[in-house]
Amino acid sequence: MAVNRDQWNSQIGFLFAAVGSAVGLGNIWRFSYMAYEHGGGAFLIPYVVALVTCGIPLLVLEFALGHERTGSAPLAFAKINRKAEFFGWWPVSFVMFGIVLYYCVIIAWCLNYCFYSLSFAWGQDPNGFFFKEFLKLPKGPLEIHGINLKILLSTAVIWFLNWLIVFRGIGKGIELANKIFMPLLFFLTLFLVFWALTLPGATDGALAYLRPNFQKISRIGVWIDAYSQIFFSLSLGFGIMIAYASYLPRKADIAKNAVMTSIMDSLFAIVAGLGVFAVLGFMANAKGLPISKVVSESIGLAFVAYPQALSIMPGGSYFGVFFFLSLVVAGLSSSISILEAFTSAVIDKFNMNRGFVVSAVCFVGFLGSAIFTTNAGLFWLDIVDHFLTHYGLVVVGIAECIIGAWVFDVERLRRHVNKTSSIKMPKVWDGIIRYFVPAILLTIVAGDLYAEIHKPYGGYSWFALAMIGINWMMFTILIAAFLTKFPWHYEYMLYTPDEDEEGQNIKE
Ligand code: ALA
Repeated sequence: MAVNRDQWNSQIGFLFAAVGSAVGLGNIWRFSYMAYEHGGGAFLIPYVVALVTCGIPLLVLEFALGHERTGSAPLAFAKINRKAEFFGWWPVSFVMFGIVLYYCVIIAWCLNYCFYSLSFAWGQDPNGFFFKEFLKLPKGPLEIHGINLKILLSTAVIWFLNWLIVFRGIGKGIELANKIFMPLLFFLTLFLVFWALTLPGATDGALAYLRPNFQKISRIGVWIDAYSQIFFSLSLGFGIMIAYASYLPRKADIAKNAVMTSIMDSLFAIVAGLGVFAVLGFMANAKGLPISKVVSESIGLAFVAYPQALSIMPGGSYFGVFFFLSLVVAGLSSSISILEAFTSAVIDKFNMNRGFVVSAVCFVGFLGSAIFTTNAGLFWLDIVDHFLTHYGLVVVGIAECIIGAWVFDVERLRRHVNKTSSIKMPKVWDGIIRYFVPAILLTIVAGDLYAEIHKPYGGYSWFALAMIGINWMMFTILIAAFLTKFPWHYEYMLYTPDEDEEGQNIKE
């Protein structure tokens, strides 16, 4: 009874794909600001602790689940217990019908800005240009006046690229794309960081980023942020890493791949942050302002602060093209992984043709993205993102630990990992997965809920938050429940081998 599953052509191909998924927009624009705000160099302490005590153990768990059970998230969970299947569908549904929809629109903005950089289209007022002219942002999220055609078109281009890559499957599509994207991204980033460090004032920026302030890391919020950042950045709770690991051959070095993915993801974030702050230091120097007056995070950093710096930088238009191109590449390598998490789940359950699934999913995805290309799109993405990443991902992380460690058998997963890995997971890993990670994730959810109840997120009205954010989350739960209800095309796929016959029914 052979199960024909796509496979990576090489271990390095898998590693590049996992790193491609992990390294995304968050690494470039979220990490640096967080580090700066939370104690500079001292932030590395909570960050590394979070990486070692939560990021790596959970990544090993996701790889182990996908590899040992040989399936996408719903299949892996259903093979453990039919009642657990829903917790495999929920992540792949909220990433497919939520996160990737606006993720692609943000990549599309970056694509537009690649071209805008050539002529400094933002003129003297990057802030007004971005919010008023480019996005046409209204006063509130419920004032939707229409779609921005320019953004819709570039979003179509991004969806087309996603389609083109995922359509071709694992080896010839995702693996090949990442083998091009990752070296390109690392080269572009190093080039930009070195360039940025030569600018006048760069050292002040780098010092502001790295200067340790140990007082700040005594705050509990700093630790929660460190754990959340690691979690989102390593694409945990998305169902991605489970699907990716299911395409590994039987003899795969799971633990080493998890450690390498985590280290590369973190190193990338730290180095990219140096470049970001070097540019901010240059701008502060040129304008005679302190760094604190020019820093900004995420969207504000990329689309307002950076354009301001580009306009006054020698060769700024080229710097801008390369910077936004690196965002496009980092974003695409993550968005294809999200698409694959859902695609592989549908193929596993319904045995449909990949080409058909990917085409349908990309078409529906493009339609879904349209709401985020309206003039109120930024508000919508902000609210939907808040609910899906703060609650969805973390709840799925807790479910994974419970299903993997309690319903299934964490010791068996560890034995499985250690059988073929050069780095052996110690016994303490069992305890981390059983108790520590769920406790940390519960603390994060509790902290978020507490903040939520005391003050509506982002200053939006309760009505808007419920209408857009909570409803959206409910919608993804309904989709997941609906997909769970269908019967499996091949019931035998749920056959779970005993540990000693493991691997015999699956092609090597
Ligand atoms: N891990 C991806 C990111 O950081 C989703 O953007």
